Amino acid sequence: MEVIIQPDPASASRVAAQILLALVTRKPNAVLGLATGGTPLALYRELITAHKDRGFDFSRVTTFNLDEYIGLPENHPQSYHAFMHENLFRHINIQPDRIHIPNGNAPDIQAHCLAYEEAIRNAGGLDLQLLGIGSDGHIGFNEPTSSLGSRTRTKTLTRQTIEDNARFFENDPNQVPQHCITMGIATILEARCALLLAFGKGKADAIAATIEGPLSAMIPASALQLHPNAIIIIDQDAAAKLTLADYYKEADAAKPTWQQDHATAP
Ligand code: PGA
Repeated sequence: MEVIIQPDPASASRVAAQILLALVTRKPNAVLGLATGGTPLALYRELITAHKDRGFDFSRVTTFNLDEYIGLPENHPQSYHAFMHENLFRHINIQPDRIHIPNGNAPDIQAHCLAYEEAIRNAGGLDLQLLGIGSDGHIGFNEPTSSLGSRTRTKTLTRQTIEDNARFFENDPNQVPQHCITMGIATILEARCALLLAFGKGKADAIAATIEGPLSAMIPASALQLHPNAIIIIDQDAAAKLTLADYYKEADAAKPTWQQDHATAP
Protein backbone atom coordinates (compact mmCIF):
# COMPACT_ATOMS: atom_id res chain seq x y z
CA MET A 1 0.00 0.00 0.00
CA GLU A 2 1.15 3.48 -0.74
CA VAL A 3 -0.11 5.95 1.86
CA ILE A 4 0.06 9.64 0.93
CA ILE A 5 -0.78 12.11 3.71
CA GLN A 6 -1.56 15.64 2.57
CA PRO A 7 -2.22 18.75 4.67
CA ASP A 8 -5.82 19.18 3.53
CA PRO A 9 -8.50 17.78 1.18
CA ALA A 10 -7.69 20.29 -1.56
CA SER A 11 -4.04 19.23 -1.88
CA ALA A 12 -4.99 15.55 -1.54
CA SER A 13 -7.50 15.96 -4.37
CA ARG A 14 -4.85 17.60 -6.56
CA VAL A 15 -2.48 14.66 -6.01
CA ALA A 16 -5.27 12.22 -6.88
CA ALA A 17 -6.16 14.24 -10.01
CA GLN A 18 -2.52 14.16 -11.14
CA ILE A 19 -2.47 10.36 -10.86
CA LEU A 20 -5.71 9.99 -12.77
CA LEU A 21 -4.78 12.49 -15.49
CA ALA A 22 -1.33 10.88 -15.88
CA LEU A 23 -3.04 7.55 -16.44
CA VAL A 24 -5.38 8.96 -19.12
CA THR A 25 -2.45 10.77 -20.76
CA ARG A 26 -0.54 7.50 -20.93
CA LYS A 27 -3.63 5.53 -21.94
CA PRO A 28 -6.29 7.75 -23.56
CA ASN A 29 -8.76 4.85 -23.70
CA ALA A 30 -8.37 4.09 -19.98
CA VAL A 31 -11.19 2.34 -18.13
CA LEU A 32 -11.94 4.23 -14.92
CA GLY A 33 -14.00 3.06 -11.98
CA LEU A 34 -15.65 6.11 -10.41
CA ALA A 35 -17.18 6.88 -7.03
CA THR A 36 -19.81 9.22 -5.61
CA GLY A 37 -20.20 10.94 -2.23
CA GLY A 38 -18.68 14.11 -0.84
CA THR A 39 -15.08 12.89 -1.02
CA PRO A 40 -14.38 12.86 -4.78
CA LEU A 41 -16.03 16.24 -5.49
CA ALA A 42 -12.83 18.31 -5.38
CA LEU A 43 -11.06 15.73 -7.53
CA TYR A 44 -13.88 15.94 -10.10
CA ARG A 45 -13.53 19.74 -10.08
CA GLU A 46 -9.81 19.28 -10.89
CA LEU A 47 -10.73 17.06 -13.86
CA ILE A 48 -13.28 19.59 -15.08
CA THR A 49 -10.68 22.37 -14.83
CA ALA A 50 -8.18 20.25 -16.79
CA HIS A 51 -10.77 19.85 -19.54
CA LYS A 52 -12.01 23.45 -19.59
CA ASP A 53 -8.67 25.24 -19.19
CA ARG A 54 -6.28 22.88 -20.95
CA GLY A 55 -8.57 20.97 -23.30
CA PHE A 56 -7.81 17.67 -21.57
CA ASP A 57 -9.49 14.98 -23.66
CA PHE A 58 -11.78 12.39 -22.05
CA SER A 59 -13.43 11.31 -25.30
CA ARG A 60 -11.94 7.81 -25.34
CA VAL A 61 -12.27 7.11 -21.61
CA THR A 62 -14.76 4.46 -20.43
CA THR A 63 -16.23 4.67 -16.93
CA PHE A 64 -17.94 2.26 -14.56
CA ASN A 65 -19.46 3.59 -11.36
CA LEU A 66 -19.20 1.62 -8.17
CA ASP A 67 -22.80 1.64 -7.05
CA GLU A 68 -26.33 2.99 -7.22
CA TYR A 69 -29.39 3.01 -4.97
CA ILE A 70 -32.19 0.61 -5.81
CA GLY A 71 -35.56 2.18 -6.55
CA LEU A 72 -34.60 5.86 -6.87
CA PRO A 73 -35.60 7.22 -10.29
CA GLU A 74 -32.51 8.07 -12.39
CA ASN A 75 -33.53 11.71 -12.44
CA HIS A 76 -33.88 11.92 -8.63
CA PRO A 77 -31.30 14.51 -7.55
CA GLN A 78 -29.68 12.03 -5.13
CA SER A 79 -29.43 9.14 -7.58
CA TYR A 80 -25.82 8.41 -8.49
CA HIS A 81 -26.79 8.84 -12.15
CA ALA A 82 -27.78 12.43 -11.37
CA PHE A 83 -24.74 12.96 -9.13
CA MET A 84 -22.27 11.90 -11.82
CA HIS A 85 -23.98 13.90 -14.53
CA GLU A 86 -24.13 17.02 -12.39
CA ASN A 87 -20.67 16.83 -10.82
CA LEU A 88 -18.57 15.49 -13.69
CA PHE A 89 -19.99 14.13 -16.92
CA ARG A 90 -21.87 17.18 -18.18
CA HIS A 91 -18.73 19.30 -17.79
CA ILE A 92 -16.27 17.15 -19.77
CA ASN A 93 -16.23 15.55 -23.22
CA ILE A 94 -16.92 11.99 -22.13
CA GLN A 95 -19.00 9.98 -24.64
CA PRO A 96 -22.39 9.03 -23.16
CA ASP A 97 -22.17 5.47 -24.53
CA ARG A 98 -18.91 4.94 -22.60
CA ILE A 99 -20.55 5.73 -19.23
CA HIS A 100 -21.75 2.81 -17.10
CA ILE A 101 -23.63 3.13 -13.81
CA PRO A 102 -25.58 0.25 -12.24
CA ASN A 103 -29.29 0.55 -12.98
CA GLY A 104 -31.18 0.48 -9.70
CA ASN A 105 -34.44 0.16 -11.59
CA ALA A 106 -33.49 -2.80 -13.79
CA PRO A 107 -36.41 -5.22 -14.18
CA ASP A 108 -34.10 -8.17 -13.40
CA ILE A 109 -31.50 -6.85 -10.96
CA GLN A 110 -29.61 -10.13 -10.69
CA ALA A 111 -29.19 -10.43 -14.45
CA HIS A 112 -28.20 -6.77 -14.57
CA CYS A 113 -25.45 -7.35 -11.96
CA LEU A 114 -24.02 -10.25 -13.98
CA ALA A 115 -24.14 -8.13 -17.15
CA TYR A 116 -22.33 -5.29 -15.33
CA GLU A 117 -19.45 -7.61 -14.43
CA GLU A 118 -19.34 -8.84 -18.01
CA ALA A 119 -19.28 -5.29 -19.36
CA ILE A 120 -16.25 -4.50 -17.16
CA ARG A 121 -14.49 -7.62 -18.44
CA ASN A 122 -15.40 -6.81 -22.06
CA ALA A 123 -13.95 -3.31 -21.64
CA GLY A 124 -10.63 -4.92 -20.70
CA GLY A 125 -10.99 -4.52 -16.91
CA LEU A 126 -10.63 -1.42 -14.77
CA ASP A 127 -7.33 0.44 -15.06
CA LEU A 128 -8.06 2.43 -11.93
CA GLN A 129 -10.84 2.26 -9.37
CA LEU A 130 -11.47 5.41 -7.37
CA LEU A 131 -12.84 4.78 -3.89
CA GLY A 132 -14.18 6.67 -0.89
CA ILE A 133 -14.60 4.92 2.43
CA GLY A 134 -17.57 4.79 4.78
CA SER A 135 -17.12 5.58 8.46
CA ASP A 136 -17.89 1.86 8.95
CA GLY A 137 -15.06 0.88 6.57
CA HIS A 138 -17.20 0.12 3.53
CA ILE A 139 -15.93 0.55 -0.03
CA GLY A 140 -18.54 0.92 -2.71
CA PHE A 141 -21.55 -0.17 -0.69
CA ASN A 142 -19.79 -3.32 0.53
CA GLU A 143 -20.86 -3.07 4.13
CA PRO A 144 -19.06 -4.81 7.03
CA THR A 145 -19.11 -8.62 6.68
CA SER A 146 -19.39 -8.40 2.88
CA SER A 147 -17.62 -11.36 1.33
CA LEU A 148 -14.08 -10.48 0.30
CA GLY A 149 -14.82 -12.57 -2.81
CA SER A 150 -18.03 -10.69 -3.66
CA ARG A 151 -19.06 -9.52 -7.13
CA THR A 152 -21.57 -6.92 -8.31
CA ARG A 153 -24.81 -7.60 -6.44
CA THR A 154 -27.44 -6.06 -4.18
CA LYS A 155 -26.72 -5.07 -0.59
CA THR A 156 -28.73 -3.69 2.30
CA LEU A 157 -27.26 -0.48 3.74
CA THR A 158 -26.30 -0.48 7.42
CA ARG A 159 -28.03 1.91 9.80
CA GLN A 160 -24.69 3.79 10.06
CA THR A 161 -24.54 4.35 6.28
CA ILE A 162 -28.19 5.39 6.14
CA GLU A 163 -27.52 7.95 8.89
CA ASP A 164 -24.30 9.15 7.21
CA ASN A 165 -26.13 9.63 3.90
CA ALA A 166 -29.24 11.25 5.39
CA ARG A 167 -27.45 14.61 4.94
CA PHE A 168 -28.15 14.29 1.22
CA PHE A 169 -31.85 13.51 1.89
CA GLU A 170 -32.98 16.54 3.93
CA ASN A 171 -31.40 14.95 7.03
CA ASP A 172 -34.18 12.38 6.99
CA PRO A 173 -32.89 8.78 7.27
CA ASN A 174 -36.32 7.53 6.18
CA GLN A 175 -35.78 8.99 2.72
CA VAL A 176 -32.49 7.11 2.17
CA PRO A 177 -33.06 3.95 0.12
CA GLN A 178 -32.30 0.82 2.11
CA HIS A 179 -30.96 -1.20 -0.82
CA CYS A 180 -28.34 -0.71 -3.49
CA ILE A 181 -26.36 -2.38 -6.24
CA THR A 182 -22.61 -2.34 -5.68
CA MET A 183 -19.52 -3.74 -7.35
CA GLY A 184 -18.15 -6.47 -5.11
CA ILE A 185 -14.86 -6.49 -3.24
CA ALA A 186 -13.40 -9.02 -5.70
CA THR A 187 -14.48 -6.72 -8.55
CA ILE A 188 -12.65 -3.81 -6.92
CA LEU A 189 -9.54 -5.89 -6.18
CA GLU A 190 -9.26 -6.76 -9.89
CA ALA A 191 -8.77 -3.11 -10.86
CA ARG A 192 -5.14 -2.61 -11.87
CA CYS A 193 -4.90 0.31 -9.44
CA ALA A 194 -7.11 1.09 -6.43
CA LEU A 195 -7.08 4.76 -5.38
CA LEU A 196 -8.84 5.47 -2.09
CA LEU A 197 -9.45 8.99 -0.79
CA ALA A 198 -10.55 9.91 2.73
CA PHE A 199 -10.85 13.24 4.49
CA GLY A 200 -11.80 14.37 7.97
CA LYS A 201 -11.77 13.09 11.54
CA GLY A 202 -14.88 11.00 10.92
CA LYS A 203 -12.81 8.68 8.71
CA ALA A 204 -9.77 8.36 11.04
CA ASP A 205 -10.85 5.09 12.70
CA ALA A 206 -11.82 3.46 9.40
CA ILE A 207 -8.53 4.53 7.80
CA ALA A 208 -6.42 3.21 10.69
CA ALA A 209 -8.29 -0.12 10.54
CA THR A 210 -7.93 -0.26 6.73
CA ILE A 211 -4.18 0.34 6.65
CA GLU A 212 -2.92 -1.02 9.98
CA GLY A 213 -5.65 -3.32 11.25
CA PRO A 214 -6.08 -6.99 10.43
CA LEU A 215 -7.51 -8.04 7.09
CA SER A 216 -11.15 -8.53 7.93
CA ALA A 217 -14.57 -8.54 6.31
CA MET A 218 -15.62 -6.35 9.25
CA ILE A 219 -13.60 -3.55 7.59
CA PRO A 220 -14.18 -4.17 3.87
CA ALA A 221 -11.56 -1.56 2.86
CA SER A 222 -8.89 -3.67 4.62
CA ALA A 223 -9.18 -6.00 1.60
CA LEU A 224 -6.99 -3.43 -0.15
CA GLN A 225 -4.10 -4.90 1.85
CA LEU A 226 -4.29 -7.71 -0.72
CA HIS A 227 -4.09 -5.31 -3.65
CA PRO A 228 -0.66 -5.05 -5.30
CA ASN A 229 -1.19 -1.44 -6.33
CA ALA A 230 -3.36 0.37 -3.78
CA ILE A 231 -2.83 4.08 -3.17
CA ILE A 232 -4.47 5.75 -0.17
CA ILE A 233 -4.52 9.54 -0.19
CA ILE A 234 -5.75 11.19 3.00
CA ASP A 235 -5.67 14.50 4.80
CA GLN A 236 -4.14 15.09 8.25
CA ASP A 237 -7.46 14.57 10.04
CA ALA A 238 -8.14 11.20 8.41
CA ALA A 239 -4.52 10.21 9.21
CA ALA A 240 -4.88 11.12 12.91
CA LYS A 241 -5.06 7.54 14.21
CA LEU A 242 -2.29 5.97 12.12
CA THR A 243 0.56 4.56 14.20
CA LEU A 244 3.07 4.78 11.35
CA ALA A 245 2.06 8.18 9.94
CA ASP A 246 5.64 9.51 10.18
CA TYR A 247 6.93 6.53 8.24
CA TYR A 248 4.40 7.08 5.41
CA LYS A 249 5.39 10.75 5.22
CA GLU A 250 9.11 9.91 5.12
CA ALA A 251 8.56 7.26 2.46
CA ASP A 252 6.56 9.69 0.35
CA ALA A 253 9.14 12.48 0.72
CA ALA A 254 11.98 10.09 -0.16
CA LYS A 255 10.21 8.46 -3.08
CA PRO A 256 12.77 7.82 -5.83
CA THR A 257 11.97 9.52 -9.14
CA TRP A 258 11.91 6.18 -10.97
CA GLN A 259 9.00 5.19 -8.76
CA GLN A 260 7.04 8.37 -9.15
CA ASP A 261 5.36 7.44 -12.37
CA HIS A 262 4.88 3.92 -11.16
CA ALA A 263 1.75 4.49 -9.17
CA THR A 264 -0.79 3.65 -11.80
CA ALA A 265 1.31 1.60 -14.22
CA PRO A 266 -1.18 -0.95 -15.58
P1 PGA B 1 -18.45 10.30 1.50
O1 PGA B 1 -18.87 8.78 1.36
O2 PGA B 1 -17.45 10.56 0.42
O3 PGA B 1 -19.72 11.07 1.27
O4 PGA B 1 -17.89 10.47 2.86
C1 PGA B 1 -17.89 7.81 1.18
C2 PGA B 1 -18.50 6.42 1.13
O5 PGA B 1 -19.55 6.20 1.76
O6 PGA B 1 -17.94 5.55 0.46
